[in-house]
Amino acid sequence: MQRSLRHALREASRIASRRADSPQRTGTDELQKWARAHLGGRRLVLVSNREPWSHHRAADGSITAVRNAGGLTVSLDALAGAVGAAWVAHGSGSAARETADAEGRLPCPPDQPRYTLRRIWLDETDHTLFYAGAANSMLWPLCHVVFVRPRFDADAWERYREVNRRYAEAAIEEVGPGDGMVWLQDYHLALAARTLRERRPDLGLALFWHIPWPSPEVFRVLPWRSELLEGMLANDVLGFHIRGHALNFLQCVADTLEARVDFERMAIDRQGHRTWVRAVPIGVPAVEIGDLADAPSTRAAEQAWRERLGIGTAKVILGVDRLDYTKGVPQRLKAFGRLLERHPHWVGRAVFVQVGVPSRIGLPEYQAVQRQVRWEAARLQRRFPRREGQSVVLLEDSLDFRDIVPLYRLADVCAVTPLHDGMNLVAKEYVAACTDGEGALVLSPFAGASRELERAHLASPFDIDALAEAYRAALEDPAADRRTRMADLRETVLRRTVHDWAIEFLDLWQRLALRTSRSDPNPGGAG
Ligand code: F6P
Repeated sequence: MQRSLRHALREASRIASRRADSPQRTGTDELQKWARAHLGGRRLVLVSNREPWSHHRAADGSITAVRNAGGLTVSLDALAGAVGAAWVAHGSGSAARETADAEGRLPCPPDQPRYTLRRIWLDETDHTLFYAGAANSMLWPLCHVVFVRPRFDADAWERYREVNRRYAEAAIEEVGPGDGMVWLQDYHLALAARTLRERRPDLGLALFWHIPWPSPEVFRVLPWRSELLEGMLANDVLGFHIRGHALNFLQCVADTLEARVDFERMAIDRQGHRTWVRAVPIGVPAVEIGDLADAPSTRAAEQAWRERLGIGTAKVILGVDRLDYTKGVPQRLKAFGRLLERHPHWVGRAVFVQVGVPSRIGLPEYQAVQRQVRWEAARLQRRFPRREGQSVVLLEDSLDFRDIVPLYRLADVCAVTPLHDGMNLVAKEYVAACTDGEGALVLSPFAGASRELERAHLASPFDIDALAEAYRAALEDPAADRRTRMADLRETVLRRTVHDWAIEFLDLWQRLALRTSRSDPNPGGAG
């Protein structure tokens, strides 16, 4: 038997045996137990640019804590709470400083503290060059192949280096003098491991890349490609959501750097250091979302939305996204128009509710998509008026996650139609919220989530007729078929929660890179 096959079988049986003797739905308790048994005294520090909780001062002087609705922060919030981690992120709200101590630390979640959030401060130049410039005008369009051209700028890249250094320094402070593992999240932090490795070679370092990784043909246009890859290779483990992205990464390294790239074992050796590359698809805190969906306060909020939006007895198709050109929102609305044209019995009987979270709105591409979405929504409204309310409701707001769950409950269909997406957690959150087994998911095959959620109505956002047809099927499926599909989807989402993801990733990291010395050519028996 080949070594790689043997290794794969061993890995599968380890995970299966862990699942077999743990309850079927892995939640906080299981992750806590796992962390106690396996992490020993090591301090886990998460680092992401977006913070899980932000504080905002209202006009009347009061301060509100908002649970940010991004899929990544919602999922990692559950993980951080379960293991009592520290989490370093940018303090973004108008009341960020006054709600943290002098070092930027505050207990989170604010009402039930279980971990420490450590805020770092970014000024306007950081925002323009690091966040809007390097992260979102270079790396984001480079990695999402939707034909938006990256804009490369040397000053932005220099600031990206500098802000990554600051994130690394804050992470070192949070680890403290003892053993630690720093788990970096996403494309904002590709270079942070370099500083961490230089300053604290003893730390375990990993980066999870939550967005797609492009093919070498696309990647080679990045002027700082070698530096980006070298920065990432300072980690012990690099995670991607799907295997195709992990393989693209390996190929980009092989084409760009002097390194030994082992495609079979998915490992890269460079300058005496080994980096393992793995595809580990993230999940959502499914049990927690289900509980939230069933809470009486959520039921009341669902009813309040229904009245506020003038839904009446109409069926609701819901979209929840950042207003981003990768998310396929204009296409999704166009397809709703096509549905109403082709199947006029839905006119007045179906309402499209789109939550459009404004983010990165200073960038021209984001302003363009915002204009397009507003225009499309207004056009549909004119063409297909409804007596009781609007036929397309556009909610442009950064809603708290606790306000989104009632919308998930309200929705008969959730439309998740990105043109390209690493995973897309809205799809999984919606399914987790459908505790009554009702609801239907229309999903783009270009979202990483489609690899797992095969029982969704899959339709390409590049094919408006097909998308309209998927809406029709989702609305008109016989009840028994709809429930069977949803039951299958729920099984998938509940079988692999964010807690399973965390255990799988941390377990890999431990076995491959932490328990054994870095010079061991065959750590953990892998390979
Ligand atoms: O789409 C998901 C994502 O890529 C997350 O990985 C990341 O946290 C988020 O987008 C960043 O969005 P924002 O710019 O609004 O913080």
